[in-house]
Amino acid sequence: MKAILIVFLAVFCLAVQADEDRYLLLGDFLPELAREIGPNELVYAEGGVSLVRVPVSQVEQFSRIVHDHYKACGGFMDVTHEIRKGRSAARLVWEYADPKDSGFEFAVRGDAFVADMVSMVSKDAYWNVLKSLEAMGSRSATNAKGAAAQKWIQGQATELTSGMPNVRVWTVETDHFFANKQASVVLTLEGTQPNLPAVVLGAHMDTITQSFTSDKQPGADDDGSGSALLLETLRVLKQSGAKFERTVHLVWYAAEEWGLVGSQFVVDAFVDKGLAVDAVLQFDMVGYNSSADDDNIYLLTDYTNPALTETLRRVIETYTDAKVGTTECGYACSDHASWHKKGFAAAVPFEASFSNMNGRLHTQNDKTDVLDVDHAIRFVKSAVAFVGEVGRVLPPQPKH
Ligand code: BES
Ligand code: ZN
Repeated sequence: MKAILIVFLAVFCLAVQADEDRYLLLGDFLPELAREIGPNELVYAEGGVSLVRVPVSQVEQFSRIVHDHYKACGGFMDVTHEIRKGRSAARLVWEYADPKDSGFEFAVRGDAFVADMVSMVSKDAYWNVLKSLEAMGSRSATNAKGAAAQKWIQGQATELTSGMPNVRVWTVETDHFFANKQASVVLTLEGTQPNLPAVVLGAHMDTITQSFTSDKQPGADDDGSGSALLLETLRVLKQSGAKFERTVHLVWYAAEEWGLVGSQFVVDAFVDKGLAVDAVLQFDMVGYNSSADDDNIYLLTDYTNPALTETLRRVIETYTDAKVGTTECGYACSDHASWHKKGFAAAVPFEASFSNMNGRLHTQNDKTDVLDVDHAIRFVKSAVAFVGEVGRVLPPQPKH
């Protein structure tokens, strides 16, 4: 009897969990969209931003319809955890519409040791990591492969930094919908002046396709290219033997594709722990080189900080021969928006002008065969140079 009761309760809880409501923030939510989506409720709307309540069983369909509606992609942010904490709907909508614009330009010195570090970037090492990520088949935040991918990235980060003092690898869980599936991974390299606000470099580890249950979601460009970039950056930081005055955090976010879920939990964890941050970079899709573009690296001008973006432009132009342009997503298209929303300065170097990006994203054909390693390496070099300049490198002292 007791066993039957336990089974009944377990099934009941699962059913309740499967049918729970998720709260999604997005831009203009049109009435015809609401009708198409089925059960949903507009909770609050102001200034072109809407908060919608959708049963979890509808989120996949919601994402698909929002994508179709906005032709290419259309972002939404899952803020269920904020509502559960008792945050008001109006405040969340207001914050999304008008985040604080903090940040300042950093001096870019042009430093010989930073140039040495940039020259240590290895095409082969980068490509091997990217191939391993692609070969996993899927890194979805909702299946066992996504959990395995997290463990693999965590293992690589730990192995690459073995023997380095002041390094910590830790994880940030997302909410129960993703629990035991995929957590975000953070590698913290403590600076010699730990009271200085830190530098954060991020990418998202998860993948998705329009067939959500598929195990063919290779996500080579979106965002294997950014995830591999962080590991290659880490390898170079170690090889250089340098220290940095600022603390540097490398973050592989979970569940970006489900509404920037992992990154919102990471930002909350940083705020809760009182970890100060001056600069956030997001690397999401850096491997596709469009022949239709004149420039090489495109800096996003929306949901980003202008002063930090200008600093990044100067870093790129000082240490690489990449030509820099600008573009915009038009919506909260990746994890930088989670930081931006909470008032942190973020910048995003992107592979192409928005309309010329890799059209294979979110398909089973998002593979390395159409990627250009030389293009991706421009971004890895930019990342290394940014850490050297803004993180304030201290070259290793010669041993006597
Ligand atoms: N990598 C994509 C989109 C993207 C495009 C990021 C341009 C950065 C610059 C990202 O993973 C993605 O698919 N985002 C979603 C929105 C997200 C909130 C679910 C999208 O574009 O629909
Ligand atoms: Zn994506």
